[in-house]
Amino acid sequence: MLNLELNTSSGHSRIYVSESMANLRNFVDPERTVLLVDENVLHFHKNKLAGFKYIEVPESERSKSIEFYTSVFGKLLELGVDRSWKIVGIGGGVTTDLAGFVASTYFRGLSFGFVSTTLLGQVDASVGGKNGINFEGYKNLLGTIRQPEFVICDVKSLETLPLTEYTDGFAEIIKYGFIKNPEISDYLEVNIEQAFNKDKEVLEKLVFDSVKVKVDIVQSDENESGERKILNFGHTFGHAIEKLHGISHGQSVSLGMILAARMSVNLGLINSGIVDKLSGLLDKCGLPVTADFDIDTMAEVMMKDKKKAGNIMQFIVLEAEGKAIVYKLKLTDLKSILNDLC
Ligand SMILES: NC(=O)c1ccc[n+]([C@@H]2O[C@H](COP(=O)([O-])OP(=O)(O)OC[C@H]3O[C@@H](n4cnc5c(N)ncnc54)[C@H](O)[C@@H]3O)[C@@H](O)[C@H]2O)c1
Ligand SMILES: [Zn+2]
Repeated sequence: MLNLELNTSSGHSRIYVSESMANLRNFVDPERTVLLVDENVLHFHKNKLAGFKYIEVPESERSKSIEFYTSVFGKLLELGVDRSWKIVGIGGGVTTDLAGFVASTYFRGLSFGFVSTTLLGQVDASVGGKNGINFEGYKNLLGTIRQPEFVICDVKSLETLPLTEYTDGFAEIIKYGFIKNPEISDYLEVNIEQAFNKDKEVLEKLVFDSVKVKVDIVQSDENESGERKILNFGHTFGHAIEKLHGISHGQSVSLGMILAARMSVNLGLINSGIVDKLSGLLDKCGLPVTADFDIDTMAEVMMKDKKKAGNIMQFIVLEAEGKAIVYKLKLTDLKSILNDLC
């Protein structure tokens, strides 16, 4: 049984990597628990959740809207949910982000847990206590940091996950390898075929090692005032690419990591062999490593990014394979840097 503990000032969380949602009864009492379940998970896995009361969460980011969020409270009242109940979010990041925020705000906060059923959710979204919804076009503008009591990373449930969603998760796994633990990249490189055949043992190891990196970082800096920022490797560029090119998060982060790694080379921090290794691994996982960028529009979108403070934008760059640092760039230099990189 692979499991990990996360302890922070906002709470204590236990993460189970080889558990199944079919064993949810061992974690919560069905009589005083309501599940928020992603519609596709319900379609494929409903039989494992027999005997539980549930609210269906439509797939797509639209479920992280203020309208859907408030509609859930009416349903909780109808079910008679009070502060003695628990809420369990079951699905990918959309469902767990929403469920965590609903649970954190209803009756000033119920205890909650997650069953994470996407690869991205298991290695990233379900761990670390950030939850929330989008507002007026801003992602995750409303939310709290509060730890789920438990997270079940149901690796077996990934069998029904569509390939594109599955591939997206590998961008985050590769990220952990390059920012903190090169053993993850090395293991993935050797076991890539098994990973894409959804070999349980290989997946459990990849998820466990990735979650371990995130747990260590979150424990040292829950509120993202320091080290937690390195989890954004590839994301400053990635978010702009996602908006402009309309491609998935994982694909955008893949391209973003290439740009951030090239930036590290230009700063004299690493040699280009590390970029080649990163690019080779992303490519093997079916993630994009080249694209045509419109530099002017990209600079414009990045200027609007909420992660800039005043005249400075923060980038995560590599000092070595497995070591990332924050690099502060003057906004006035952004365009020329983009010209160099793209
Ligand atoms: N809280 C955090 O720290 C954090 C970190 C990263 C991302 N996020 C958030 O996570 C969200 C993205 O999460 P995601 O990539 O998991 O997307 P998602 O929740 O939208 O799920 C992706 C798709 O997979 C389907 N699905 C889920 N599990 C399935 C299964 N086992 N079988 C078949 N289909 C399944 C869903 O219905 C959906 O269509 C974004 O809203 C993002 O902001 C949060
Ligand atoms: Zn991401």
